[in-house]
Amino acid sequence: MAFPTHRPRRLRRTEVLRGMVRETRLSASSLVYPLFVCPGTKVKNEIKSMPGNYRWSVDLLVEECKAASDVGVPAVILFGIPESKDEVGSGAYAPDGIVQRAVRALKKALPDLLVICDVCLDEYTSHGHCGLIKGGEIDNDSTLPLLAKTALTQVEAGADIVAPSDMMDGRVGAIRRELDAHGFTQTPILAYSAKYASAFYGPFREAADSAPKFGDRKSYQMDPANQREALREIALDIEEGADIIMVKPALPYLDILALARREFDVPLAAYQVSGEFSLIEAAARAGWIDRERTILETLTAIRRAGADMILTYFAKEVARRLAC
Ligand code: PBG
Repeated sequence: MAFPTHRPRRLRRTEVLRGMVRETRLSASSLVYPLFVCPGTKVKNEIKSMPGNYRWSVDLLVEECKAASDVGVPAVILFGIPESKDEVGSGAYAPDGIVQRAVRALKKALPDLLVICDVCLDEYTSHGHCGLIKGGEIDNDSTLPLLAKTALTQVEAGADIVAPSDMMDGRVGAIRRELDAHGFTQTPILAYSAKYASAFYGPFREAADSAPKFGDRKSYQMDPANQREALREIALDIEEGADIIMVKPALPYLDILALARREFDVPLAAYQVSGEFSLIEAAARAGWIDRERTILETLTAIRRAGADMILTYFAKEVARRLAC
């Protein structure tokens, strides 16, 4: 039986009714706020291509995290901008590196804030790649111990979760073994499992000055055309010990999120990346879209596709909004 007996509009008549039958809800408890930390004190340096986002020195980072935590943001993920970069990215795994210092300060000031550390070399290498260079190529296996060391120093500093974003093969296992060998058996790994070689990372690379100086990241990040390969990457990461898997970027890859949700039973994260943020921000500034509605619609779509957690530069303002 169809119309006129069936009228789907009956349940859309009022906000109360729509609220009753709503299938997906946003909650601040699933948001992660990405932040950039840099050397110095009293530094709050706006990232041009990401208006409203800053490179924070540790002192002001703590204040920003306190403000985020006060409105209900449960977690942050940290990216470091080191004093200097070198061929082997030593700033990533220095026990007193910029991220390690930030984690110590944060855990001291805000012990309940969940601190996630991105594990990667690209912000710390002079060539801007996520791995070591050998014979003009990004060498996989010699990079693994450095990633493991990066994760270990972050966890020693107090990080609650480590999140490898480099896309080297075998890195989740290498990190798991290193953490376990040092007694950190309880620290989860959030793996950037299906991370695509995406144009949407453009603004982030300005923020972290991490654009590759030669070539591109296509020999390690995934081809945007591939879906089946994402399932394989995720399966391998789970086998190696990933506790949470991630798809990145989010909005152009909702099909991957939906598929991952169906195929795997581990918690699923999605990263609404810098370019996704800047697209919305730019169109809103031009007066072409309703900023707030667009933000909530994109985040709802990402949840609807299956994400349990969302990393988003809008985390603080959305949490504030959801609280009222
Ligand atoms: C690598 C890393 C990148 C992002 C997160 N981790 C950059 C890249 O792969 O080039 C991008 C995040 C964003 O665009 O918001 N450390």
